[in-house]
Amino acid sequence: MTVLVIDNIGLLVTCEPSLGEGSLGLVRDAALVLDGERVGAVERAGAGGDERLDAGGRCVIPGFVDSHTHLVFAGDRADEFAARMAGRPYEAGGIRVTTEATRAATDDVLRALARARRAEALRAGITHLEIKSGYGLDVETERRSCAIAAELTDDVTFLGAHVVAPEYEGRPDEYVDLVCGEMLEACRPYARWVDVFCEQGAFDPEQSRAVLEAGRSAGLGLRVHGNQLGFGAGARLADELGAASVDHCTYLSDDDIDALAASETVATFLPATDFSTRQPYPDGRRAIDAGVEVAVATNCNPGSSYTTSMAFCIALAVRDLRMTPEEALLAATGGGARALRREDVGRLTPGARADAVILDCPSYTHLVYRPGVPLVSAVLTGGRVEFGDPWRLR
Ligand code: NIG
Repeated sequence: MTVLVIDNIGLLVTCEPSLGEGSLGLVRDAALVLDGERVGAVERAGAGGDERLDAGGRCVIPGFVDSHTHLVFAGDRADEFAARMAGRPYEAGGIRVTTEATRAATDDVLRALARARRAEALRAGITHLEIKSGYGLDVETERRSCAIAAELTDDVTFLGAHVVAPEYEGRPDEYVDLVCGEMLEACRPYARWVDVFCEQGAFDPEQSRAVLEAGRSAGLGLRVHGNQLGFGAGARLADELGAASVDHCTYLSDDDIDALAASETVATFLPATDFSTRQPYPDGRRAIDAGVEVAVATNCNPGSSYTTSMAFCIALAVRDLRMTPEEALLAATGGGARALRREDVGRLTPGARADAVILDCPSYTHLVYRPGVPLVSAVLTGGRVEFGDPWRLR
């Protein structure tokens, strides 16, 4: 096995407090020793190996873990976005516009679109991501969405319960039966998770519970879209059923916060969504201070958040959710990993996957301090350089 050393790292973020300073486990003047696909050790600069890559004093962080994306879709909703910027409110109904385009797309087209978005995310430093279905809303399009997602990640989420399919307008319970029966059966072989959009205009708490319980009986882990457009039952349902994560959390009551603080359910904030829908931002500071475990994710989708930039989400998390840069970076790496119940990503510790990002700056604070600037100079996934040319760094 080849040992690759990333040497001369000015600031290494391990995301493991026992390995260095503070909550990010910072090590200055470090070398990261990679044993094939895994992290071997964290050393002082100058450590030996078969190959040496000089980081030139730059900052190295764990690859971002994006725990909430909807990458499999066709079509474009730029006009809807422009109308929103002109004052029209965001409505979940736009999902059906994408559903029409997704149903009409061939497998090859859908696959090419999803792969291009995955590649874009990698260039932005995202080395692991979750991908949801949810723009098919019929058995076959949901099945092929999950199958295409499974080609790109092992964290596939079945989201047949995104909104009620147009053919079932006015018959939501019948649609829930389809989701919990034939659709779940078709998607289950590709999925690790089941998700439901528990919100007014999508699924009510009873319908949401039925979907989650059916998914659990089929062996899937639980995730919930909740508390996005208003106060509601999503967060507490997620906590009650032991979901790994409740995502959005724009509107959390004191009771929601108390319940989440006492539970294992991660609150995943999607601040680019609040940006793109002109919603208020969630109070991340309040949740963290109350002891809620948090993640930050992109929610890349064509309607409410068409971005793969985790750096942008981190900047929003600091400026508008009032997190510190350390909390926001942790939420986008280790927090995402916890939201996906994974130990192997989101940290640069011995035994973890060798997923690292070399930033073209001396400190992770620049992700916030220099908003909109592409600071990712190289990305390694499983010890292999997947983006950039780090052999030429100076
Ligand atoms: O996470 N909340 C529901 N689903 C997506 C929106 C999808 C869309 O508008 O197309 C979200 O924001």
